[in-house]
Amino acid sequence: MSAPNEPQAFTDPAYWKNFFAKRKTPFEWYGDYNSLSKVMEKYLKPSDKFLQLGCGNSELATQLYENGFHDIHSIDVEPSVIADQTRKNKERPGMSFAVGDAAHLEMADGAHTVVIDKGTLDALLPPAAEPADKAIVTMMFDEVHRVLASGGRYIIVTLAQPHITEFWIDHFFPLKQYILRVQKVENKASGFQMPVFCFIATKMRSPMPNPLPLEVMRSSSIRTDRIQSTDDLKEAILAEQELSQFIFLCAKKLETEVSIDFHGEDPSLGPRYRICVVDNQEVKKIETFAAFVVPIGRMMIGSLALSAKQPLAIIDTPCKMAVLGLGGGLLTAYLVRHFRKARVTAVELDPDVAKIANTYFSFPHSDSRINVIIQDALIHLAETATKPEEEKYDVIFVDVSGSQNAALQCPPPSFLTPEALLNMKNSLKESGMISLNLVTRDSELGKAIKSNIAEHFPTLYAVLSFEDVNEVIVGLKAPKNTLKPVVPQKLSNTVRKNLGSYDDILRSISNIRMVDY
Ligand SMILES: C[S@@+](CC[C@H](N)C(=O)[O-])C[C@H]1O[C@@H](n2cnc3c(N)ncnc32)[C@H](O)[C@@H]1O
Repeated sequence: MSAPNEPQAFTDPAYWKNFFAKRKTPFEWYGDYNSLSKVMEKYLKPSDKFLQLGCGNSELATQLYENGFHDIHSIDVEPSVIADQTRKNKERPGMSFAVGDAAHLEMADGAHTVVIDKGTLDALLPPAAEPADKAIVTMMFDEVHRVLASGGRYIIVTLAQPHITEFWIDHFFPLKQYILRVQKVENKASGFQMPVFCFIATKMRSPMPNPLPLEVMRSSSIRTDRIQSTDDLKEAILAEQELSQFIFLCAKKLETEVSIDFHGEDPSLGPRYRICVVDNQEVKKIETFAAFVVPIGRMMIGSLALSAKQPLAIIDTPCKMAVLGLGGGLLTAYLVRHFRKARVTAVELDPDVAKIANTYFSFPHSDSRINVIIQDALIHLAETATKPEEEKYDVIFVDVSGSQNAALQCPPPSFLTPEALLNMKNSLKESGMISLNLVTRDSELGKAIKSNIAEHFPTLYAVLSFEDVNEVIVGLKAPKNTLKPVVPQKLSNTVRKNLGSYDDILRSISNIRMVDY
């Protein structure tokens, strides 16, 4: 059973009579002692004299008793729960229960060293509290102040809704006699979506000349942090609540796949980025998560300006392309979408990546012009290199990522060995080209790599990026002086006509530079 959801009714004793009449088994508001002990025990001593306000039929007092705290008096306005609790705990000397009103306590001044309130303040002070409700809570706070011994602790277990936090701080902070601490309880048993907090007000002997410390123990921290102002304390609680809410939402299984597409200027040309939230149903606890950010490789597409087949200019040219490294499949999808006579072979090592592309990136896997091969791309190159000319490629896109932490992030070094480069070259038609995504922050290494590639591809260009560390290296088999130079202006006009106003493709074309060795 979940908690009742009409907060206003909680202030009415008749509500509780009815609530307890219907429910015979204990109902623990915000969890039992097991879930609270880690926080509470820090503020409790076996010699403490406890007063519990609004015990209901909770087993908190019994559990405290079983854990070595033997002086516990509990009150509640509802006689039936007091009768029940008394009967259940009659074998526990030192535990007592009485009908009583938290706003009119019968105990002597300073009679208790600990006052515990689990859910009672939240019940007495609804979000839309009437002045009369507020007056009752003020009286309860005054009474707690009176019956609490110096050094005593008033521990409130609460959902810390903003009106509760504010009322508590506004009452106790100005007294200058309480250290106020707030601690979030790691508590999955509460059944509440909102996190549970303990508010601990520790009473000093007398009021101090200056305000006393405010402290918070955040869930991310193992220590208590000093807080400068009451506003900062409220803010810290809100931040914890937002974090819990976020974790709660993330921990639920997604009912539908969620994705956000980011388009360029012309949405009809398809998405430029797609963010897909992939819910792993096996995961029970969020500790880490991964993000795939898959840009649609406009620089690589721009590199087609250098292909002898000129697909950017003559869009209907039959063309055989290979994409090594499928990723989200966006480059492959783009190529078949825009180059209507192109056939694209995508080679991917990891079958899970292909699954992700199909499932989450709307990869057009059933298009007959696409062939996805799950294979080590190096083996694919070695095999293609020995095939007849017509089975070789016009363009090979090398978009294989390596280690994120290495000096060379893309491609893995194994793609740059003389053997791999030779196989790349031999997998191309005579007029073919490679377009290789190179990511390194080490410019010397970048230079060395380009000179290695130049050993096999005598004509070398780089498509430079102004924003990013990556460069697309274009290598042609044809010797340098046999090529017609690209006329950027002319090509730009054709690209505009063929592919729409793709400024970033045009920009990458204008950033093509010959690499000289
Ligand atoms: C939300 S329940 C919490 C019960 C219990 N502390 C728990 O954690 O399960 C609130 C309790 O406060 C009691 N109550 C309401 N007004 C009260 C008052 N003025 N004085 C004492 N108890 C009160 C209700 O009868 C009810 O048992």
